[in-house]
Amino acid sequence: MGTSSRRLVVVGSGIAGLYAALLAADAGTEVVLLTKGALAESNTWYAQGGISAVLDAPAPGDTVAAHIADTLKAGAGHCNEEAVRLLCTEARRDIAGLGRFGVRFDLDDDGGPALGLEAAHSAPRILHAGGDATGAGVADALIRAVLARQANGTIQLFPHAHAAALVQTGGRVTGVTFRHDGGTVTAAGDAVLLATGGAGRLFAQTPNPAVATADGLALGRRAGAAVADLEFFQFHPTCLVHPAAGSGSGAEPEPLLISEAVRGEGATLIDTRGVRFMPGYHPDGELAPRDVVSRSIALHLAKLGDPNGHVYLDARVVEACHGKGYLARRFPTLTVRTREAGIDWTRELVPVAPAAHYWMGGLTTDLHARTTVPGLYAAGEVACTGVHGANRLASNSLLEGLVFGQRAVESFLRGETWVSPDAVPPLASGIPSVDDGEYSLGAWPERQHAPAPGAVGSVHE
Ligand code: SIN
Repeated sequence: MGTSSRRLVVVGSGIAGLYAALLAADAGTEVVLLTKGALAESNTWYAQGGISAVLDAPAPGDTVAAHIADTLKAGAGHCNEEAVRLLCTEARRDIAGLGRFGVRFDLDDDGGPALGLEAAHSAPRILHAGGDATGAGVADALIRAVLARQANGTIQLFPHAHAAALVQTGGRVTGVTFRHDGGTVTAAGDAVLLATGGAGRLFAQTPNPAVATADGLALGRRAGAAVADLEFFQFHPTCLVHPAAGSGSGAEPEPLLISEAVRGEGATLIDTRGVRFMPGYHPDGELAPRDVVSRSIALHLAKLGDPNGHVYLDARVVEACHGKGYLARRFPTLTVRTREAGIDWTRELVPVAPAAHYWMGGLTTDLHARTTVPGLYAAGEVACTGVHGANRLASNSLLEGLVFGQRAVESFLRGETWVSPDAVPPLASGIPSVDDGEYSLGAWPERQHAPAPGAVGSVHE
């Protein structure tokens, strides 16, 4: 690759970061990809339910228009309609894009994509992989594709690299400083794409992995990027309450998310008296929008005088309806994980309660994933495109990472400039500022894991 190539620095290795890095690299861009943990340590990896998409025109019993309408309805009147239209319309193209990088979804008996149903969707349109291991299936294929490009020198990778600050030159973002291998490194670039995911770990109860700590939002905000909708944090209704939790007998087990797809297959919610309560709160019962179900559980528990208690997910009805072995086939990971928690969900109720799951708010971005700061893109959960409004529709999150990851790369390749009417002054912070001129665009570094001095940028001990 010639030294005249433009360079994109991507921060984060969930679906948005991996997909964008691959698209940019394959278009001839030099890509530096850094991520806080191991490549696989992302919310994407743990996503169970799937990716929503209307694939064929017309899809039997479904339309892109219906997907748009469902997304707007779940978003409770707060969505950016144009962003939603792009999301649902471009889904098809990006699902095909995943296929080019080796992602395979589960097939039905006819050899077509097996489509699941989730809450607040008017038709089954959820693609899944490995039954309930969609995120792992998608991320694994994308990571393999990234590693292949690392091997041929088109992507430079820095796992276990903790981004510390954005470099700004003349008001434009021109790189990232990060902590790596005991030192501080700067990756200079023509633009930076933040794809750092969400912030569930800010809450006491969350199934998010340890890396989900709002880093990207802090980086962008300190650089002056506008933020939006931070008050909208989605709670997933059904996280396993481990039977041993709260007993004080050692380390608390991590909450385990029980996919909405289980309710999509017919599982119901019942209270500790054995009463199915959701139909009393919403005509769609367990398949009401996610915020409604979580809020109803909280209200119901409060009404029963047990606000910190739990309800039960009854998946036995799914097994009874589809026959013995169905739960294990359709939800193999959850079958193992619930069993590890001491529950045979084919015969027993699963104790569940809402837990912090997804941040609708984030760095304000336009339809091309541009934040309000020149040179800075954001895609995936760190961004606020407006597609989710006040409440994200199930399985639209991986889709958003794809569609707006792709849009960020397209904008970068077009060499788009931007005006930033909404830019706000950078926040003062205890983090040392990075002055213009202190860092310069380095030569395209040799392929390596550990940075060589002067390769990616300045190294400060
Ligand atoms: C789930 O499988 O319930 C999570 C899917 C999502 O958050 O969209």
